Amino acid sequence: MSGPGEVTLELDDIQRGILSPRPTPYAATYLAFRVDDPAHGRELMRRASAVVTSAADSASPLGETWVSVAVTSTCLAALGVPRSSLDTFAWEFRQGMAARAKALGDVGESSPENWEAPLGNPEVHVVITAVAPDPLLLETAVDRARPAYDNLPGVTAIWRQDCYALPTETEHFGYRDGVSHPAVEGSGIPGSNQLEVPLKAGEFILGYPDELGGTQTPLPDALGRNGSYAAFRKLHQRVAEFRRYLKDNSTDPSDEELIAAKIMGRWRSGAPLALAPRCDDPALGADPHRRNTFLYQRDDPAGFNTPGGCHIRRVNPRDTSVAGEVRLHRMIRRGAVYGPPLADGVLEDDGSDRGLMFAFIGAHLGRQFEFVQSEWINDSIFFGGGDAKDPVAGSADGTTGYTIPRRPLRRRLAPLPRFVVTRGGEYCFLPSLSALRWLGDLRD
Ligand code: HEM
Repeated sequence: MSGPGEVTLELDDIQRGILSPRPTPYAATYLAFRVDDPAHGRELMRRASAVVTSAADSASPLGETWVSVAVTSTCLAALGVPRSSLDTFAWEFRQGMAARAKALGDVGESSPENWEAPLGNPEVHVVITAVAPDPLLLETAVDRARPAYDNLPGVTAIWRQDCYALPTETEHFGYRDGVSHPAVEGSGIPGSNQLEVPLKAGEFILGYPDELGGTQTPLPDALGRNGSYAAFRKLHQRVAEFRRYLKDNSTDPSDEELIAAKIMGRWRSGAPLALAPRCDDPALGADPHRRNTFLYQRDDPAGFNTPGGCHIRRVNPRDTSVAGEVRLHRMIRRGAVYGPPLADGVLEDDGSDRGLMFAFIGAHLGRQFEFVQSEWINDSIFFGGGDAKDPVAGSADGTTGYTIPRRPLRRRLAPLPRFVVTRGGEYCFLPSLSALRWLGDLRD
């Protein structure tokens, strides 16, 4: 499975949800729990170790149906993990996502006091995720998870969010999602960009060398090794407002599609501007072998095809000359749509809550998720773009327009409103299967 000089990952100890791409299509559910009785919480961990699927299990009879378990830092403390061990976990994880709101741009309507309860509250202790290829099998996955928390009065389910990915993987703004994924050395799972050298396993799995040559593992090793971190985010999408912005800033329907592509960096079909700069190429958008194999710097340093400020070039500038080292800021990204789609062509909001449930996974919360969110999404200094924000996911305040590089004159669009509002989120640790047992064996 691993090439010469590559690290060998202990796949049978690593949660499958960290490394395995989700099936297409799929249904998923996020269940959050509060632990009132530490003994019951530890029992939950012990039982969870038996229902969580490992990364070695990809050919199991249950196929693409699996369960993951994540815990917050308040959970680890409640279960009795000693302070000396807690202090070795990532600083951002120990703070919790709500405490990091300002740095993440979660201000105004996105600020934690406006989050959906109980997200952001210290009572969120455990998050169980079940994934399956369709809603029927999802119930099978949930049934598989149930023995972990059934009949434990000291563990209470406090939140559930169902979500799904369509066969086209289209998210609510109408773009194909789930396209670009990094390759992880030693995982056996190929990335989607053949021009990207696989990333060191330690970028995503704790206990292995990372891109800087170091090995970060929360202590003791039995707890930290083979684990990872996840930043969960529930992001509400203002679909009608997004559609109106495209319409109001374009001259006709084909110009509207061009603007939509210039904002994202891909046509809605998934075809990248880097490979299809003038018009959409739906066959390219549907081809997993071609649609993500490209770089920016050689052919398009100034962004005439793919603007430096568009969503995908910001969040992964690839080989673009930007301040910093791009490979230190990569993430494994799992997004699923929640809420009903807004009917085609509707330009008025219907009041429904719809958006994306994300899990951004990596071993370095600070230099991965937090960096991308604060420096690349909510700032443009890194590529010389002033104070503009990501046109899709940024915390825009209606003051800064969007710039499309163009010869002889750049094109300026109207000031961007905020299209995405944070409904909540949490930083979690994804323990290894043996660490779940270790947590289960803790004593008061
Ligand atoms: C509701 C908000 C968001 C929407 C609608 C959205 C949509 C998309 C779409 C359509 C793509 C292109 C398809 C793909 O590569 O899978 C994409 C790529 C990506 N997004 Fe987002 N996104 C959102 C928020 C975020 C946030 C908050 C982050 C990071 C903090 C992020 C990070 C990424 C990354 C890393 C890629 C891959 C870029 C590449 O490698 O080319 N996205 N997103």
